[in-house]
Amino acid sequence: MGRVVLVTGGAGYVGSHTVVELLKAGHTVVVVDNCVNAAKATEGNVLPPALERVQKIAGKTLHFHELSLLNRQALVNVFSKYKVDVVIHLAALKAVGESVEKPLAYYANNITGTLNLLEVMSEVGVKRLIFSSSATVYGVPQYLPADEKHPTGVGVTNPYGQTKYVCEQIMKDLSIADKEWRIVLLRYFNPVGSHESGLIGEDPNGIPNNLVPYISQVAIGRRPHVNVFGNDYNTPDGTGVRDYIHVVDLAIGHEVAIDKIFQSDFAGTKAYNLGTGKGISVLEMITAFSEACGKEISYKIVGRREGDVATVVASCALAEKELNWKATRGLHQMCEDTWRWQSMNPNGFS
Ligand SMILES: NC(=O)c1ccc[n+]([C@@H]2O[C@H](COP(=O)([O-])OP(=O)(O)OC[C@H]3O[C@@H](n4cnc5c(N)ncnc54)[C@H](O)[C@@H]3O)[C@@H](O)[C@H]2O)c1
Repeated sequence: MGRVVLVTGGAGYVGSHTVVELLKAGHTVVVVDNCVNAAKATEGNVLPPALERVQKIAGKTLHFHELSLLNRQALVNVFSKYKVDVVIHLAALKAVGESVEKPLAYYANNITGTLNLLEVMSEVGVKRLIFSSSATVYGVPQYLPADEKHPTGVGVTNPYGQTKYVCEQIMKDLSIADKEWRIVLLRYFNPVGSHESGLIGEDPNGIPNNLVPYISQVAIGRRPHVNVFGNDYNTPDGTGVRDYIHVVDLAIGHEVAIDKIFQSDFAGTKAYNLGTGKGISVLEMITAFSEACGKEISYKIVGRREGDVATVVASCALAEKELNWKATRGLHQMCEDTWRWQSMNPNGFS
């Protein structure tokens, strides 16, 4: 059944892929984004380039409002314009390193922005929410694979991760206090890849924080080599192992979460891990990417990064059981699709 879905941060990487899946599924989509980390609409256009391309892929139109969640009145105005059924809240600042340098900016944007959104939703009586959370809430994993019962908030080493943990707590408290709230926390592992069309993808500002965009920029010749932070971890090849998930699988996870939240027996706040359950090392990723793009990727082994752990892998059994969702796209497709996006758009959306 088609719903009216308001997507905060929908012009970003995960957001644009999610909006494609929502439109394809027949939902009406309203995006709000201040484009702090997305290319803005060029002169004469209403939509940011990512959303122009989303419309092209889906063959459907969407609504867009350029605004910050910090502007409460602007949010009220958007909610008064549409009969929103459910909100997918992706808008956040997400660079871990930057969050250490600018904690106040991160707490203000991610927590105040979320509070504004929740308050306005309460006022207008829209009480269904899907929140982009992160595996970072598990801190240094106490056991693997990490399932949703794993303790959260312990050993979270940076302000970005703290904002996700605090937002989760606020949402849990809210749904305890007001039984009408229905909230799904989606704990993403490491989103990579791009839509198969090559039209949308991750377009990082400046030096990429994440491994795959970095490898991809080395492959296209924008950076000389990949720094591999440590090869003396207790893993099969000594490099860090993470659970990477194709962004289209992740996007589909949001669509199935909408179905879940509208089930009559859904209540309170529920968390689901979205990953693959499989660990991939840094060197495995470099090799796979090199095969996908047909180029040698140079890399240098350098010292470990503070705060990094050897392995983080998800248990995704709960999402499989309760959402009927499972990631289907493997390592090769993650690399192939990233490379298609990068080679078709060497300078991203600009
Ligand atoms: N990409 C990852 O590795 C990853 C992993 C775990 C969780 N997440 C979470 O998923 C969500 C989406 O991540 P992404 O990778 O697509 O990031 P992104 O930066 O590409 O997208 C976030 C979008 O939110 C917008 N935004 C930020 N602050 C805003 C504000 N105050 N008002 C309106 N818009 C605002 C940005 O302009 C951007 O378009 C974020 O909440 C992020 O923390 C991402």
